[in-house]
Amino acid sequence: MRVYCAKDYDGLCRKAANILSAQVILKPNSVLGPATGSTPLGIYRQLIDWHRKGDLDFSCATTFNLDEYRGIAPENPQSYHYYMVHNFFRHVNVPASRIHIPNGTAEDGAAECARYESLLAECGGIDMQLLGIGRNGHIGFNEPSSQFESSTFVVDLSESTIKANARFFSSESEMPRQAYTMGMRSIMQAKRIVLAVSGGDKANIVREAFCGPITAAVPASVLQLHNNVDLVGDEDALALLPPEKDGYS
Ligand code: F6R
Repeated sequence: MRVYCAKDYDGLCRKAANILSAQVILKPNSVLGPATGSTPLGIYRQLIDWHRKGDLDFSCATTFNLDEYRGIAPENPQSYHYYMVHNFFRHVNVPASRIHIPNGTAEDGAAECARYESLLAECGGIDMQLLGIGRNGHIGFNEPSSQFESSTFVVDLSESTIKANARFFSSESEMPRQAYTMGMRSIMQAKRIVLAVSGGDKANIVREAFCGPITAAVPASVLQLHNNVDLVGDEDALALLPPEKDGYS
């Protein structure tokens, strides 16, 4: 694992965006795995800025989003579809036909998961997966549990995730109770993973995930088994990691 420590949120966004843009520049037809949440917003802003300046071209890229709420439509402002369109896709040039996000309104959850996995396999898997981390160690919507689901599946959201994400809905009762998420195998099969994390309230879980035992109780800890992970954080989020001999990059 490579650890990149930035002074603050803006710095971590620049570092993560640099890694993503290098991927797209070196391999224009990359398959990217975007994430949502508050952490990637600044990363997307930076990528959009470079795209507008003519330095970054997504016209050959393909994307597979990590997750989506189940039971809400793409045009619902709380859907991850809406988030991605408004915070990234409408500002860059990924062709619409190559943008993939689980369909939150699909009737048959199992069929939607199978459709998503087979599309992903057809495209050759993910070259670079962007991840955030939940305060309980979740990645995507892979919640702490006693065992992992492997490929894309419908998950019952944990109480802590419902509480954490309810702030985006007008009331907690409107917050969906289920979501689609790529499973741990889908995530671990990505050729390279960039986990972005910001803020002191994530410092404990970052230490548990990367220095603690590998356990399904802390889903992100499984990333210790991946051989190509970039952990990009600000000083507060990385504060509890053991110090590097020569300091972090
Ligand atoms: C988002 C996702 C989640 C978030 C995590 C951290 O697609 O899958 O796992 O990455 O909840 O969210 P923020 O960045 O809002 O702290």
